[in-house]
Amino acid sequence: MQALGIDIGGSGVKGAIVDLERGTLLSERIRYDTPAESYPDAVAPLVAQIVADCAWRGPVGITFPGIVYHGVVQTAANVDKRWTNVDAVKLFERATGCPVRVLNDADAAGVAEMTFGAGRNQTGVTIMLTFGTGIGSAVFLDGKLLPNTEFGHLPIRGKDAEHRAAARIRKEENLSWEQWAERVNEFLAAMEFFFSPDVFIVGGGVSKKYDKFMHFLKTRARIVPAQLLNEAGIIGAAMYVADLSTAQSQGAAHGDADWVAAEAADDAEAADGDDE
Ligand code: BGC
Repeated sequence: MQALGIDIGGSGVKGAIVDLERGTLLSERIRYDTPAESYPDAVAPLVAQIVADCAWRGPVGITFPGIVYHGVVQTAANVDKRWTNVDAVKLFERATGCPVRVLNDADAAGVAEMTFGAGRNQTGVTIMLTFGTGIGSAVFLDGKLLPNTEFGHLPIRGKDAEHRAAARIRKEENLSWEQWAERVNEFLAAMEFFFSPDVFIVGGGVSKKYDKFMHFLKTRARIVPAQLLNEAGIIGAAMYVADLSTAQSQGAAHGDADWVAAEAADDAEAADGDDE
């Protein structure tokens, strides 16, 4: 089974067709720069362009770097504030003509890591943290996601954790890896106090450079680098939309998206047939 995954970030909008059995990309990864003014009507055409580039007709899973509550964006810390209260499912369904589901970017990356990456077969409490422009979080109990956690905004020394310890801040403030890791350790200690996790998965752009800072990180929990690197969001988004039973219930919450969920089920059946 296949679905298209699209990952919207502060710097790029990336997408590819995903093999949902293997958690791998079936098409080239397409990337467009996020426009400097990243308001909804500037980003939606890029999403539509990726759908067209992939010649895709079927379910599209899309990540967004903020809280996405039943398809509606609630916060936009690192993108244009005009996203707040936008029904992202409706926006992208109109732009693409495809059935769409939208979820938080860190949740998507976590979902992919739990199935195909560093969190495979992990039981107990797992916390995925993504370090990039901001800090994203995804919390799992026995592999099941608690959606829309926002621990990048946990106050540490009077500031949002992401304003002290996001990967972007390391560059902006010219911190050494050790100085930056000390800040990350403070954040991880707070997370350990509140959640007593079994495992932390460190993801986002920095996971590629894990060997530069891993020896500085100190936690009681096991701590491991993410494995799917910049594909995690795309893969997780595709997995999320492919779960058609939940897509149907979201369709109900969105009224006129009902037909879309039904069509997605038809498309999926057709795609299954093609595979055999
Ligand atoms: C947002 C989160 C997002 C994270 C990573 C934070 O600023 O509030 O929703 O997951 O950045 O993009």
